[in-house]
Amino acid sequence: MLKKPIIIDTDPGIDDAVALALALFSKELDVKLITTVVGNVSLEKVTRNTLQLLTFYGKNIPVAAGARKPLLRQAFDASSVHGDSGLGAYRFPDFQDTNLLEQHAVVAMYNTIINSDSPVTLVPIGPLTNIALLLTMFPDIKPQIKEIILMGGAIGRGNSGIYSEFNITIDPEAADIVMSSGLTITMVPLEIGRKALVFPEDALKIKEMHAIGDMFYKLFKTYRGGSFNTGLKMYDGSAIAYLLKPELFSTQKAFVAVETKGDFTSGATIIDLQGNLGKDANVTVATDINPDEFKKWFMETIEKCV
Ligand code: BDR
Ligand code: CA
Repeated sequence: MLKKPIIIDTDPGIDDAVALALALFSKELDVKLITTVVGNVSLEKVTRNTLQLLTFYGKNIPVAAGARKPLLRQAFDASSVHGDSGLGAYRFPDFQDTNLLEQHAVVAMYNTIINSDSPVTLVPIGPLTNIALLLTMFPDIKPQIKEIILMGGAIGRGNSGIYSEFNITIDPEAADIVMSSGLTITMVPLEIGRKALVFPEDALKIKEMHAIGDMFYKLFKTYRGGSFNTGLKMYDGSAIAYLLKPELFSTQKAFVAVETKGDFTSGATIIDLQGNLGKDANVTVATDINPDEFKKWFMETIEKCV
């Protein structure tokens, strides 16, 4: 079976850590490059976290550090959700950094895409700054990008602003560039992560699976993307689920715009599911997920992360 070539752009982040494992241990995916972006915590921290995770997973994948601030705005972090380090209080053993490229993430993405035998799928699970820079600096690369499958946005109310989701709120201008790029885009919004839940009994099973499961359990104990007892939200993992198991989802094509100017709504994703604006659809929006089937797939897939 030909593996699907992908690049993951990430800001680990506890749910990013899980998403990375789901992708890296998949036999269907060829993770060619991992790029980091300021988001949940600073660029230095998310890059270190990525290297620590890759060492822990035993995966020698090239990593390139990208944007240290959003295009036009100041960064603000989500350490209240993911901990000061971005990965709770977990103490990782020594990690290797020989896979850290000197190139900027945008240049590394460009080189990886032009050198790939087949078009590459981009999977951003953090703010869209690096992807917007790639499309702006190297617009000729677009035909070599198969599609973008991203975690971000909200159909309804947000988790960062009243109507805005964290990844989009951090860099609305970047999200606007990506959404209006003309590329094939699927957006897996907040509403999906809110149904892709890990409950305490699942977390306990994960803990017993293997060393990676034990590490996840310790991260889950401090993750506030939901509370440990009422269900931890696997936002970024749901984007990987879409990549590997799209049949778990309901989708709808719609016109999607990003609010960049609103006094109170900056970063909101305007998702015109009813076609009220009369504009052409530019994004496939994941509108629902089968939570039981997701759980089954998730637990089986995590178990295979060895
Ligand atoms: C998104 O924000 C981050 O905190 C998570 O890692 C996820 O990518 C959810 O809004
Ligand atoms: Ca993330």
